[in-house]
Amino acid sequence: MSDTKQQLEKIIADSVLELATADEEGLRNIEVRLLGRKGEVNRVLSAMNGLDAARRAELGAAVNAAKQELEQAIAHRRAALGAELSAELAENDWIDTTEPGTASAAGHKHPTNAAIEKMSALFERIGFRRARYNEAEFDHYAFESLNMPKDHPARDDWETFFLDAPENKKWGKQVMTPHTSNAQGHEMERRRPPIRMVSFGKTYRRQSDVTHLTMFHQFEGLVIDRGINLTHLRGTLDHFAKGYFGADRKTRLRPHHFKFTEPSFEVDISCGLCNGTGWLANDTGQMANGTPCRVCKSGWLELGGAGMVHPNVLRSGGIDPRLFSGFAFGWGVERTMMMAAGMRIPDIRLIYNNDLHFLNQF
Ligand code: FA5
Repeated sequence: MSDTKQQLEKIIADSVLELATADEEGLRNIEVRLLGRKGEVNRVLSAMNGLDAARRAELGAAVNAAKQELEQAIAHRRAALGAELSAELAENDWIDTTEPGTASAAGHKHPTNAAIEKMSALFERIGFRRARYNEAEFDHYAFESLNMPKDHPARDDWETFFLDAPENKKWGKQVMTPHTSNAQGHEMERRRPPIRMVSFGKTYRRQSDVTHLTMFHQFEGLVIDRGINLTHLRGTLDHFAKGYFGADRKTRLRPHHFKFTEPSFEVDISCGLCNGTGWLANDTGQMANGTPCRVCKSGWLELGGAGMVHPNVLRSGGIDPRLFSGFAFGWGVERTMMMAAGMRIPDIRLIYNNDLHFLNQF
């Protein structure tokens, strides 16, 4: 047997054991090492230079046979590896499609959204139409049309965020609306009396403490018709307070000043955390353990403002104050929610901390 044939047989014999145990990566290495362009088998071929034609043909055939044998051995091992893998998957990685599924955990509405739905339903029951107006608003609707001309000091109360956005020649600068009272001007422009609207919206102020959020919600009520007076306002607020808080809770109107209503009031409710006493109960339910209520400080918590729509505001909305009168109110949704029976929220900021331990209680 020639040297060349011996070399080929040695290559094949040496590879047998290695092939039997090679994994996929090992197989690729063997393929390159033995059959690659510069692999061991081709190196044998280069030794044939200078041989006569008959010898070359004979050796060429031997090399081709060796190549084929190696290719088959590699393919054989590869097929065996594939079968092993399939068997393993069949054993360990399978799904019983007949098994009943696992139900995914269902969340629930955020307490603010649930509260808005409840509040809205109470107004809709007495004929209010639900509306929604802008969150980014022009100065005209946020202030000017509400009887607060430019540079009026009353504007300071709203601690407003101004937007870095183009000023409109007619409507002025843009702001993140600091109260839902911007709804008043829009509603009067869109509809003629009788108007009976409630509008819920997000509002923004530069404030943050136990009873103040930077982003909170308000609802604005607006009623305009012939002969509307203060008793209609009082009756509407009573309907809401009794429906939302229960008949045993007390509300009071406190004289106040808003530029867009005259007369104006703030509406307070007896505090649900301390039962209107200003002092927190201890664990046994007795008061007088000496802890003042941090939320209301006095037994009453302010929920909103209200009043009879100022004639200038009616005029600005194109409504004749000699023919029509109206009332408006604007309440904080989160404050109202905090005061609902059983809520016991000691800090308004907890509502938006996104802590599921807190949110899952509702
Ligand atoms: C107003 O915003 C007036 N627009 C209300 C109004 C409407 C008066 C129509 C007359 C007629 P005030 O700034 O008081 O008023 O806010 C109203 C309510 O919003 C407050 O009583 C409180 O419940 C809620 N509120 C105000 N600021 C915050 C805040 N930073 N975080 C949470 N709630 C707030």
